Amino acid sequence: MSDRIYIFDTTLRDGEQSPGCSLTIEEKLQMARQLERLQVDVIEAGFPISSDGDFESVRAIAREIRSATIAGLCRTIKKDIDRVWEAVQYATRPRIHTFIATSDIHLKYKLRKTREQVLEDAVTAVSYARSLCPDVEFSAEDASRTEMDYLVQVVEAVIEAGATVVNIPDTVGYAIPWEFAEKVRTLISRVRNADRVTFSVHCHNDLGLSTANSLAAVAAGARQVECTVNGIGERGGNASLEEVVMAVRTRKDIFDGYTRVKTEEIYPSSRLLSNLTGVHVQANKAIVGRNAFAHESGIHQDGVIKEKLTYEIMTPQSVGIKESNLVLGKHSGRHALAKKYEELGYGLNPKELDKAYLLFKKLADRKKEIYDEDLIVIIQDGIRVTPEVYKLKYVQASSGNQIISTATIILEKGDLVLQDSATGDGPIEATMRAIDRVTGIRGHLVDYTVHSVSGGKDAVAEVFVRVKFDDRNFIGKAASTDLVDASARAYLHAVNKAVYWQSAAPKSVAAEDAAAAH
Ligand code: KIV
Ligand code: ZN
Repeated sequence: MSDRIYIFDTTLRDGEQSPGCSLTIEEKLQMARQLERLQVDVIEAGFPISSDGDFESVRAIAREIRSATIAGLCRTIKKDIDRVWEAVQYATRPRIHTFIATSDIHLKYKLRKTREQVLEDAVTAVSYARSLCPDVEFSAEDASRTEMDYLVQVVEAVIEAGATVVNIPDTVGYAIPWEFAEKVRTLISRVRNADRVTFSVHCHNDLGLSTANSLAAVAAGARQVECTVNGIGERGGNASLEEVVMAVRTRKDIFDGYTRVKTEEIYPSSRLLSNLTGVHVQANKAIVGRNAFAHESGIHQDGVIKEKLTYEIMTPQSVGIKESNLVLGKHSGRHALAKKYEELGYGLNPKELDKAYLLFKKLADRKKEIYDEDLIVIIQDGIRVTPEVYKLKYVQASSGNQIISTATIILEKGDLVLQDSATGDGPIEATMRAIDRVTGIRGHLVDYTVHSVSGGKDAVAEVFVRVKFDDRNFIGKAASTDLVDASARAYLHAVNKAVYWQSAAPKSVAAEDAAAAH
């Protein structure tokens, strides 16, 4: 009989932890709603002890999302476990996910604990977590480099203590598929009461093997796979959800298993995530890259026209990519716009639709053809989730190879109208400096990318910036047919997030502590 493979999505925890991927609470909620549409089994919503912001987002997700299990991560420390429970208890199906490293390398250099101490910590944490929550996952961090006899001992003990899921991470992406499969198979066969728990795997991509290792583990008996949308995550990333799910679906003959993921929501999920984080997917990325279904060579095109099966092992539609993305024009109505947004995975409320329609009409006046990407930009840029403390009223920049670039900015802050000018190395830098002068907040531009979101000479330029304010990076994004305007808005978007963060989400005392431990 075909087995169910559970998909545990950790985009909002392991993924969000990676550089450049931090999201606000509202953005995490937006992503969680999309993960619910994608029908993942578990959403790991965050690491509540790491910051008050993380705690708030896990709690908000637990309160709102009804159909998935909501997990929160914690070390094997009582105050961490309590904090997770405080946040996830509102979920229909809450889960406490506790972890401790088990490899000798981690014990000796990181934890400075003996095997006996770690075993005791693991058991105490799992029993305590079980006294609060019926669903407890235990992760043996760096399991792939843990000595087998000790791993068996730890896993048996946490099952005895009440764990419901046992996760075997390849934390540093060191495993090789057949070796990892052997490890999982041996573990399941040697551990007493293995049938009482679901075995899970969590593979990192340092050697580009995270999907292969996850699938090898499934073949060896793992029934939960931990992964992230677009494969985002620490260093080389985590196993990519879309690759794991589509491999299981495309090669049913091999896996004899299935997931409950609604694959048509894969592409909208991927797009939403890159729009929220500003981290783009490489063009040749499997399943969701721009070229994933593009047939360029004449021989391939000829084959696909004659019979798709020649070069296409799955259809773009099955992952939610529409054949044609040319959508609306100047004369399209509100109803058509609402319908298109629904197709793109954005259910807009009437107020949002009013705003989106206004922005759409404005854009349609400047641009003949409106593509899906343009519509997404309208949502991301126009229907802001971050309060606009500073609003851009006016920007003017002059530049050339014989003059010093200067920019003048006028911003609104409540009833105040603020103006200043600055020079810079090019019009973009001058513009950002002028914004710094007006706001009195100095940002350090860490990253700046621009790309055209649709075709044609009148294409909309989408600008992503990563700006550091004190010790924290914020992503800003904006789009416009004018590059200076888009850059100013993107920079201001990051400024507004920083202002909002400082007022709404102070870091908890435990934050550095937890971050250092992870
Ligand atoms: O990579 C890892 O080991 C982890 C655990 C906390 C599951 O992220
Ligand atoms: Zn991880």
